[in-house]
Amino acid sequence: MSELKNISILFIVVFAASMLRSTEAIDHIVGSRNGWIIPVDGHSFYSDWASNITFKENDVLVFNFVTGRHTVVELNQTYFENCNVNQNIQFLDTSPSPVRFTLNRTGVFYFTCSIPGHCASGQKLIVNVSASSPALSQGPSSPTSSVSSDIHIDLVATFSILIAAVAVNFLF
Ligand SMILES: *[C@@H]1O[C@H](CO)[C@@H](O)[C@H](O)[C@H]1NC(C)=O
Ligand SMILES: *[C@@H]1O[C@H](CO)[C@@H](O)[C@H](O)[C@H]1NC(C)=O
Ligand SMILES: *[C@@H]1O[C@H](CO)[C@@H](O)[C@H](O)[C@H]1NC(C)=O
Ligand SMILES: *[C@@H]1O[C@H](CO)[C@@H](O)[C@H](O)[C@H]1NC(C)=O
Repeated sequence: MSELKNISILFIVVFAASMLRSTEAIDHIVGSRNGWIIPVDGHSFYSDWASNITFKENDVLVFNFVTGRHTVVELNQTYFENCNVNQNIQFLDTSPSPVRFTLNRTGVFYFTCSIPGHCASGQKLIVNVSASSPALSQGPSSPTSSVSSDIHIDLVATFSILIAAVAVNFLF
């Protein structure tokens, strides 16, 4: 019988922890291990990377690159298509790498590098952001994503201990 109680407690703790995690914003490492570069594998590299990921509102893009070699600019669709990098919506702080960009709305974002020639060479990223749903089914969206926030991890730990303590009081 006490085995069963222990299993119940474990289940409650794991369930509580997973509920908290499911609403967490995710860090997406742009280009995974390749980072933010002129893609050597062709112009579809960043669209291939993005196609495997579900981007949710408040997720964060992390652009890793050699400081000084690249920049990160956000453009509107017209300027993005024409690689008109000087008409940027935002020239993001580029020193030092990495650049972190919070996807703070739903819809489509367009990014490139403002260094001449890089956009035309395929250093271009389109990200389509959907609303973050309060769903239990929403896990980490890709194996290339990593959990970012220590605060959230602390919350999970604290909350788990709290639940465990309550459960112990009830069951024993
Ligand atoms: C995206 O997913 C496809 C099919 O699952 C896979 O072949 C491809 O390697 C993935 N691309 C990246 C960049 O992870
Ligand atoms: C981008 O901005 C320019 C200048 O404001 C505008 O003419 C153009 O229509 C915009 N493109 C889109 C897709 O919003
Ligand atoms: C998103 O962040 C940018 C840059 O900080 C800001 O200009 C913009 O107003 C924000 N948009 C929303 C919907 O909060
Ligand atoms: C972005 O996603 C929305 C909702 O899934 C879709 O309707 C829209 O066509 C997408 N836009 C682009 C440019 O992929």
